[in-house]
Amino acid sequence: MKIAVTGSTGTVGSQVVRLLAASAGHEVVALARRPEAVAGSRTHGPVSAVYADYDDPASLRAALVGVDTLVFVSGDGEAARMLVQHGNVVRAAADAGVGHVVYLSGVDADLASPFCYAFTNGYTEGLLAASGCGFSFARASLFTEFFAAFLRPALVSGELRVPAGDGRVSLVSRADVGRCLAALALLPPSGRHHDLTGPESLTPDGIAQVLTGVAGRPVRYTDVEPGVLAEDLARAGEDPWWTYAYGSMFASVRQDRWSAVSTEVRRLTGRVPLGVADVVGPVA
Ligand SMILES: NC(=O)c1ccc[n+]([C@@H]2O[C@H](COP(=O)([O-])OP(=O)(O)OC[C@H]3O[C@@H](n4cnc5c(N)ncnc54)[C@H](OP(=O)(O)O)[C@@H]3O)[C@@H](O)[C@H]2O)c1
Repeated sequence: MKIAVTGSTGTVGSQVVRLLAASAGHEVVALARRPEAVAGSRTHGPVSAVYADYDDPASLRAALVGVDTLVFVSGDGEAARMLVQHGNVVRAAADAGVGHVVYLSGVDADLASPFCYAFTNGYTEGLLAASGCGFSFARASLFTEFFAAFLRPALVSGELRVPAGDGRVSLVSRADVGRCLAALALLPPSGRHHDLTGPESLTPDGIAQVLTGVAGRPVRYTDVEPGVLAEDLARAGEDPWWTYAYGSMFASVRQDRWSAVSTEVRRLTGRVPLGVADVVGPVA
């Protein structure tokens, strides 16, 4: 079986390439717009690095010829551009007759969500469902490592200042998500979505309690107005797109769109999913 992986120079994609390369019996193709940056993974087994840029449909079509399974790690950056890029990937996969696309989506993949990437994910799932390719949708919750950008300052200041309302979040470790993507790639297409979540769903007060345990001193949650987060981010020099994207993410958290908890990480990987303290604890 020939398995291709997008985002192979990134954190999740490179992990998936390593895991697949370490499990015998198939060929792994690391797709990248900078194939030279994938070179390290060659040492782990039968991996080839092939040029494929989401903005270059011809490169995607060429790279996917003969591929049985594609692990499609979603792109990043401005959402409108991602819609076009994801359309290019899905069309190329369909043209090449890829039998199974494992797509990294999000627990909030609702087109009606205020979260900018919920639309991207919901739209891409729709394209894939209509593409003729078999599919499995890996709907990850918010990555703990990513959300840690808001948690680590709280460990220092003693205050978790985010506009999260009382919304629960089932933060999931990025490493668990990578392991699930690799596991799904070795299974037949499920034709459904798989919620990939951490072990529990925590309110912001609950997250502050976990941080209190990690810091060894009190951390409290302050529910700030959405505009306050935007001001804080702008003052810190954050890019306008990301200021908007973070704000839209917290709007979806306030609507409790990330509270689902599933047993899929354990079912797919055989491991108990990492909790928040497991991820933020060691480096705090
Ligand atoms: N659930 C969450 O909380 C959460 C949080 C953050 C991100 N995400 C999603 O998860 C994905 C994986 O996360 P990650 O941490 O592994 O991200 P990452 O380390 O930033 O990796 C992103 C990958 O996408 C590739 N890429 C970007 N633009 C491309 C293009 N035009 N053509 C081909 N490849 C392109 C990058 O290639 P280069 O090395 O060439 O740039 C890189 O390999 C992200 O892309 C995003 O969709 C989810």
